Amino acid sequence: MTIQWFPGHMTRARREIEAKLKLIDIAIELLDARVPLSSRNPMVDDILKGKPRLILLNKTDLADTRTTEKWMAYFAGLGYTSLAIDASTGTRVNEIPVKVKQLLHEKIERQLAKGITPRAVRGLIVGIPNVGKSTLINRLAGRAIAATGDRPGVTKGQQWIKVGTEMELLDTPGILWPKFEDQLVGMKLAMTGAIREQVLNIEDVAFFAVKELSKRYWDTMSERFNLTTEPPKDLDDADEVVRVMEDIGRKRGCLVSGGRVDLEKASGIILRELRAGNLGRITLESPEDMM
Ligand code: G4P
Repeated sequence: MTIQWFPGHMTRARREIEAKLKLIDIAIELLDARVPLSSRNPMVDDILKGKPRLILLNKTDLADTRTTEKWMAYFAGLGYTSLAIDASTGTRVNEIPVKVKQLLHEKIERQLAKGITPRAVRGLIVGIPNVGKSTLINRLAGRAIAATGDRPGVTKGQQWIKVGTEMELLDTPGILWPKFEDQLVGMKLAMTGAIREQVLNIEDVAFFAVKELSKRYWDTMSERFNLTTEPPKDLDDADEVVRVMEDIGRKRGCLVSGGRVDLEKASGIILRELRAGNLGRITLESPEDMM
């Protein structure tokens, strides 16, 4: 679901998370492994302040494995523990309670030293829309709990979900907003499907996708669509990128009268196949981009 984030929504989302933070021991920040930076809330460090945090890179089934490893090393360098998961199939999801316990180990030890039997540790999943929060909550709960398509301000009675014997999770996630002041971020989120087409022009998103794929994954794209055209020599030359889009359209039979390529139809195909993972594992951001 697409949320139009106005300043009022952001304030409300922040307040809701801050109220939930009072109830929990650890925040579990969920990111999309294909776009770990663009799927990150710009104020997350400020919002989660002093709370212990576990970072989860989700949708790793769609992401480039080597780049996911680089991201984990990057987060380790910042002092965060991270875990690469796939909430849709459950890959490595069972390691979450283990990591959480490790992160809260000192607190647990202190309680034991005082003779207190520690209660189950309590966690909250936070992230921008569409990173997989509801899918993960359902996976951890072992049943359907969270309604997908969340928005701030739509609250329901909160409950604790038991995850094994030593961890509990709030059944409603903390919803954060993406950084849309940066147009590239919006495009990357649209490419991955986090922002729906209704908000952005489908041809613009596909144009951006072909440009990014030409830069990072030319061989993969060329093979998938059987391209006969050469890679763009200058990625800033729009005509060069459109030439590739047209080749894709031709190869997929997206033609209109006069043999012209139906770019809108071709755009739909490019985005659908990209999001479904048909082009293989693709990550659009790497820690090296920040250097
Ligand atoms: P949210 O609560 O953070 O908004 O996200 P949600 O769980 O609704 O997940 C958004 C979409 O991402 C869903 O697909 C969901 O199936 C998919 N998803 C979540 N985790 C993973 C993952 O690890 N790998 C892959 N490949 N997909 C994942 P959808 O198409 O919007 O809905 P549906 O077709 O699954 O019903």
